[in-house]
Amino acid sequence: MNNILELMSVAKTYFLQSETIEVLKNINLSVKQGDFVGIFGPSGSGKSTLLNIIGSLDAPTSGRVLLDGIELFTHRDAELSLIRNSKIGFVFQFHHLLPEFTCVENIALPALVRGTSPGRAHERAQELLDRFGMSDKGGRLPEQLSGGEKQRVAIARALINDPRIILADEPTGNLDYENTAKLLEVFVHLKSEGHTIILVTHSLDIEQVATNVYNLKDGALDVM
Ligand SMILES: Nc1ncnc2c1ncn2[C@@H]1O[C@H](COP(=O)(O)OP(=O)(O)O)[C@@H](O)[C@H]1O
Ligand SMILES: [Mg+2]
Repeated sequence: MNNILELMSVAKTYFLQSETIEVLKNINLSVKQGDFVGIFGPSGSGKSTLLNIIGSLDAPTSGRVLLDGIELFTHRDAELSLIRNSKIGFVFQFHHLLPEFTCVENIALPALVRGTSPGRAHERAQELLDRFGMSDKGGRLPEQLSGGEKQRVAIARALINDPRIILADEPTGNLDYENTAKLLEVFVHLKSEGHTIILVTHSLDIEQVATNVYNLKDGALDVM
């Protein structure tokens, strides 16, 4: 009931010339509004594959994905882009900020794509920077920020269109211990504001912050 996300018997197999790799075998997952789902798994276990399917960037070999009541893979690519832009906020291990744009411009970009006026988009980007304690950094280029700051800007960009769900793929993967702790606090704070989060990681830190923790093993999710 009221699930934001539902995965039913999702499988993903890569067919290469010499071998077939069954990465995901049978993934079932229900995520409710406000859940902070942590998915733990070692490198190569299929975390990115799973998150890309949830984010509609990649189609499963079989199974169903429902996001906010929408059956994802019955839609064309152009429709999926619109769904992604309005309903999903992505945060990756590498910040993927555009190097020649300022922080405010990077954060505002998904709003501009959606058709928000530049004035309003920049205003909202600045509000997000204020929230993350980076009020004075809006005019800086990504290379003028620390690793932790870049990831906070990436989170701000993920939030600008008020997504239904935030998907984070090893967002602390490049950070030291202190900045990892700080960034995980940001996610805990977002959860406290009612945001729905799925964070995949190979670090067990996730057990301390997520409310629903799973282990991705042999292509399936076990409750931890
Ligand atoms: N496009 C692809 N073609 C073939 N194999 C792939 C592809 N993408 C990922 N894989 C394989 O799927 C497995 C899981 O990869 P991935 O989802 O990136 O794992 P993780 O994010 O947990 O490190 C790995 O064995 C990887 O080599
Ligand atoms: Mg990965």
